Order: sequence, then structure tokens, then C-alpha cells
Amino acid sequence: MNLRTRMSARQKVVALAGASTLVAAGLVTLPATSAYAAPGCSVTYGSNQWQGGFSANITIRNVGDAINGWTLRFTFPNSGQRVTQGWSANWTQSGSQVTATNLSYNGNLATGASTGIGFNGSWSGSNPAPTSFSINGVNCNGTAPTTPPTTGPTTGPTTGPTTPPTGGPGPSARVNNPYQGSRGYVNPEWKAKAESVSGGNRISNNPTGVWIDRIAAIEGDPDSSSNGPMGVRDHLDEALAQGAGYIQFVIYNLPGRDCAALASNGELQATELPRYKTAYIDPIAAILDDAAYSSLRIITIIEIDSLPNLVTNVAPRETATANCDTMKANGNYVKGVGYALSKLGAIPNVYNYIDAGHHGWIGWDDNFRASAQIFAEASRAEGSTQANVHGFIANTANYSATLEPYLNVTEANRLSTWIDYNRYVDEQRFAQALRTELVGQGFDSNIGMLIDTSRNGWGGSARPTGAVTSGDVNQQVNGSRIDRRIHLGNWCNQSGAGLGERPRAAPATGIDAYVWIKPPGESDGSSTLIENEEGKGFDRMCDPTYGGNPRNNNNMSGALSGAPISGAWFPAQLTQLMQNAYPAL
Ligand code: GLC
Repeated sequence: MNLRTRMSARQKVVALAGASTLVAAGLVTLPATSAYAAPGCSVTYGSNQWQGGFSANITIRNVGDAINGWTLRFTFPNSGQRVTQGWSANWTQSGSQVTATNLSYNGNLATGASTGIGFNGSWSGSNPAPTSFSINGVNCNGTAPTTPPTTGPTTGPTTGPTTPPTGGPGPSARVNNPYQGSRGYVNPEWKAKAESVSGGNRISNNPTGVWIDRIAAIEGDPDSSSNGPMGVRDHLDEALAQGAGYIQFVIYNLPGRDCAALASNGELQATELPRYKTAYIDPIAAILDDAAYSSLRIITIIEIDSLPNLVTNVAPRETATANCDTMKANGNYVKGVGYALSKLGAIPNVYNYIDAGHHGWIGWDDNFRASAQIFAEASRAEGSTQANVHGFIANTANYSATLEPYLNVTEANRLSTWIDYNRYVDEQRFAQALRTELVGQGFDSNIGMLIDTSRNGWGGSARPTGAVTSGDVNQQVNGSRIDRRIHLGNWCNQSGAGLGERPRAAPATGIDAYVWIKPPGESDGSSTLIENEEGKGFDRMCDPTYGGNPRNNNNMSGALSGAPISGAWFPAQLTQLMQNAYPAL
């Protein structure tokens, strides 16, 4: 398997347990005070450079006793290297000596804990990586410990890497396609719900996305409508117990979430970027970075619908909403995504995939390049670089078909009501084209696309069996299309939908996998107003009697009746999805 070029030799992994002999000798009774603390640190330095500039992400891991406050020091090998702007620490440079001290929120590092910091810099001549790092005066760059540094004192993680992390890209170096040759984690909470519906056991062993849709979900939240008591760590432990190769988390809690709709409004207000960072992303990153999970490929699906909303649902467009205008003006979607990418991308076994809407949203010329550009902008925000992006996902929680077998876009049928001048009619051809555009916008040429096929099968008796030919372009398109929605802009609990392709790796060129990110049977939103304490609103696009708005060109919503709030279990929907599955069950 190809190793991605961004995990090149430039990524230096240096490690030392300063007092590893104590650790190795099992002297575990030392109190964790600074006077007696057994210090130890491990620093990962990854950088991405262009002519004259570079960006570096540094992960500090404490492999000694707990510390309260840290100072990182290193020396640039070349006198032309400068830190120009840093983040997540106080940065100073004197000559070639660089010093970074903790901020208030990341000074405490328990044994085994780590934190990510970084900076943008400039260089002339050459830009070699520093090779020697110290934390609180302890050199992190000595000989490798004789035992892996993670079997530390009382609270250390239980399993460590199988080889010391000194030899460049180790066992957890990223692979090109994390789905290939790897078994997906089955979420027991979703599995139990699926099996509560008649026939659900036919599909309940499929991997589905684990949605971290609010801060409480990190620890597990038995009171929530969508998740159960399992938190992020519980899912990871269970993934290890299952012997899974990959696990999929959805990062979904931006400030001012779901700005063009109401159904998935979240807990953070439009201005709460600091809270998003410190109370949501940082704790998630700390858990994912635990060495106990380094053998898992951790897929993170980044912030559904957010960036596309900034392209299409803002002034002066007719589709603009006040909330999307606010999020565009305050920059908190772009900054939040950049922050998430940089924190999560600093973890070597995490694979970030940004949500890219679907063809029925950004497949129009006006939206296509503009979306790729905003993805590029976000991936460079808040100290992130485009190298933190492993790929993109299309169709998350939507219903657009993977492939329209009987329909191609032609100059003639683009003017049909259904296609309406879009360039695409399905997700696969859209995703492949978007991939090319994204590489043109500076993303790695190896990025891969995912397609959420959880609910886009469109089987059942209404499915066409061949192309319809007609002189009337609307008859031709409507008779041939498998997507039976009333309008492409309909997105809530669609009547007539079926399960799509089962999750599988590498189904087509440029596509890393078909995935089930939206767990089938979880509602998109309530069909009537339901009071709740989760911030979920009532969006009339989920009301079957609603006649629509400019975003679906004033068509009926096509939603099922009797639906609970978004994320809550909707057994009747799963029954319909199984009935209309394609391929059939
Ligand atoms: C919706 C909900 C969220 C849920 C997710 C998966 O986006 O807002 O709470 O976790 O769907 O069903």
C-alpha cells in the first residue's frame, strides 16, 4: 500500500522517556509532584513547506509523571528559519532558539496525555526539521527507551506501540486508503436499535458513523435522543475488542450549526468558537491521541453541511438565511473547521475527511469551484495546512443516488426541471470531478472521496428498469431517474428511499469507500414541533404538508410523517429503507 507522501521522512519522530529506566524498572510509587516527578517526553514534528514558507505541527506527549505547565524548547538547524505566527502556545524566538510555553487550557498533561501546538514560519536557504527537543529542561531526544514509553506508572495506557516510535513512520503511518483491507467498527448502540426492528438483523453488522454531536457525547450521554451512554473512549475500546481496523467519528458541533435549517441546530451559539475549541475539539483530540488506540485507523468526518452553506445560503442569493450570513461574516465555520483539521490531523492515525455536500447542492457551476476554494481556505485556517485533509465525503445524510444507471447529463436534458442546469445527476461522477477540482485547489493528489450510501439505494417497485426515450425532456429525465424525490433540494426523511450500497472499500477510481455515515433509521428531523432540550428546531422541510422554500424551489418536502427529532430513532423509516434497499437485501 502506498504511504502518503505527506508522512515523508520530513516527519521526524523523536522520543525519550527521560526517566525511562525508572519506568522500566517498575518504580511506580513516586508521587506525581514536580519535586519527585519522573519526567519524560516525546515530541512529534511534522511540517509542510512551500517556497519561503512552512507550517509545522508539533505534538507533545508526556510519557513521564503528570506535569502542570510545560516549556518546549528546540533549535532550528538553519539561521534562516523563523517562527512567524504560532498557535496553542506562547511562542518566542531568540536567534535560532525557539521557546513555546503552555496556555491555560493545555498546561496539565497527565501521564500518557498529549497536546498539539504549531506555527507558521519562513525560511531561506533550506528548511531542515529540528532534531532536538526538550520539555521543562528534559531532553526528549536521547536514545530510545528500552521499553515502549507508554507502559508508564499508575495511569498509563495499557497497550503501547509494538516498536519504539523512533524509526520514522511507524506502524500507524497513514495509508493511502484507510478502508482498504480493513474491517469497520460496528456501533453496538446502533446495532441494538436496528435489531429492534423486524428484519433489522440483516443489516445490523454494517459499520456506521458515530456522531459526536454535542459536548456531552464525548463522555457518553444516556439522556440524548440519538446516542447512548457510550462515549468516544468506550467506542474506541469496543473497536479494539471487536478487532476492528477502522472506526468512523462524525465531528459535528460547530458554533451556529446547521445555519440554513433548523432540524440540527446545535448547542453552541454563533460566537462560541473558543468553547468549540477547548470544550469539544481539544478533549476529542486528547482521547483519539491516546497511544492505546494507535493501531486503529480513526476516520473523522468533519462538520456536515457547514462550508457548502457558506457558498450557497448567503447574501445576495435568494437562498440566503440570516444565520448563514452571520457564520460567513464571523468566520467561525472556517476557523472551526481549520482548528479541527489541525488538531485531529496532528494525530498520525487520524484520517480527516471534510464534508462536501452532494451533487444536488454544489454540482452547479456557480457552486462547484467556489466550494473547493472555501474547503481550501478552511483547511489553511487556524494554523492548519491542506496536508491535514485525507479526503472528502459526498452525500452525508442525503439521498442523492450513487449512480444514475439510465441517465447522463446532456446539453439537451440539462434544461429539464429535475437537472435544472446542474452538471451532474449522481454522486459518483460528481465526487470524481470534485476530486480533480480539489487537487487543482492545492489538496494532495492522493486525496480520496467517500460517498454516504446509507439511504440512497432507490430500489423497490417504483425503480425504473431502463432509460425512457421521449421528445419531452422532462418525461425522459423523470422516467429514467432512479432518485424518486420530488425535488433534489429535499433532504428530510424522504419517502420512498431505500438503503444503498453496503459499505465497501475502493469501489471506483478516486473513491476510497462507500460508507454508511448516517445511521439508517435515525431521523433527519421531526415532522411536527417537538419540544426538546438539545437545541433541535422544527424545520418545515421535515413536515410532509409543507410546500417548500427557495432552497427546494418551493416544492413539497417529500418527508415521512410521524418522525421524531433529528438523530432520534425512527423505526418506520428503517422498515421503509429495508423494503426499498438497492441492492435488495
Ligand atoms: C442529525 C442529528 C444528530 C444525530 C445525527 C445522526 O444530524 O442532529 O443529533 O447524531 O443526525 O443521526
